[in-house]
Amino acid sequence: MSKTLITNFSQKLITWHVRNGRSGLPWQGNRDPYAVWISEIMLQQTQVAMVLERYTRFMKRFPTIQKLAAAHIDDVLAEWAGLGYYSRARNLHVCAQQVITEYGGVFPGDPALLEQLKGIGRSTAGAIAAFAFHKRAPILDANVKRILARLFAVDGALQDKRVNDDLWELSSALLPIKPNDMPVYTQALMDFGATWCTARKPVCLSGEKKCPFEKECQANLSDQVLEFPKKTARTKSPEFDCDMLLIRSGNTVLLQIRPSKAIWGGLWCLPESSWSAKSTAGKKSSTLSSLFRTILPDEKLAAWQKHCQPVKEGPQIKHVFSHRRLWMQVWDINAYQCVEPTGANLRWVPLNQLGRYGLPQPIKVLLQGLSLAHDGGLKN
Ligand code: ADE
Repeated sequence: MSKTLITNFSQKLITWHVRNGRSGLPWQGNRDPYAVWISEIMLQQTQVAMVLERYTRFMKRFPTIQKLAAAHIDDVLAEWAGLGYYSRARNLHVCAQQVITEYGGVFPGDPALLEQLKGIGRSTAGAIAAFAFHKRAPILDANVKRILARLFAVDGALQDKRVNDDLWELSSALLPIKPNDMPVYTQALMDFGATWCTARKPVCLSGEKKCPFEKECQANLSDQVLEFPKKTARTKSPEFDCDMLLIRSGNTVLLQIRPSKAIWGGLWCLPESSWSAKSTAGKKSSTLSSLFRTILPDEKLAAWQKHCQPVKEGPQIKHVFSHRRLWMQVWDINAYQCVEPTGANLRWVPLNQLGRYGLPQPIKVLLQGLSLAHDGGLKN
């Protein structure tokens, strides 16, 4: 391991950031722990451009941790709609309540304590501690893992615990000496991974000899940049089918809130059948009764069937989750009358009020089409 690289890394990276890093982003001007925490959670798994659109709006809606903790979860989810990975919004809500009850509404600065809070992993704890409290705390997200794996030609797959432990150790060893440098250093590390030392097109392979670490980077020196980090064989994510009922009556639609532990937990969706492994034998034809059984007890079937005719085959929507792919077959049903829904989890919702409900993105897009056809539609 190169000692000079370890010693010089942070200052070289900070110098790199002056000309090449991101600056002027709305969350960078505010080192308040609440603002830092919201931006870091939003930036996990979401592109900076998208967060730029949504962060300021979220902060206006929930300007303090007290407001967020006191909000109804449905309102938090509705504000989060479109950002995906909704467990982040549910965790955000729980975490706000934890900070109120356990710390009187003031975030702790110790990364070990931050990591105990709901939804804050070790790397995010390090980022919050560095940005908001100038703590010499390391981060290790996917981009940083890639940078370090290349710089030090780290062998072994990233999933391997030993490799991960080694990377955390490296990330700690590279920290700047002065705590005051921590915010800019941490931002620089994130930006360098996101824009220069990228997975597929790192600048060192572009022909421009401009990477500040090209003479020290072990992967570059051995002409193996794309070989690092070492990859494990990926299996294709499994595919599932389900049916969804788009039951409309005039300008209202029947929605069902999903159980909090499920995928899209706590969001409002179309009533849905259970998932089955995707059949290769082509689409199965469903009967109205079999679809209705997904939402109704047997004794109510007849009454609903009388009011709901006909069933039209709607679009099939594919949605890709991080670990599975889902094909949703929509069945378009006209109800002559809003039959009383049987469960508290079902609700007739006027199309012009959909904006108040947290909806999964593909369902939002589908309903937006209907809503636009009616009266002005959904806001983002
Ligand atoms: N991803 C996570 N945190 C980030 C930040 N502060 N800036 C840019 N990308 C990020």
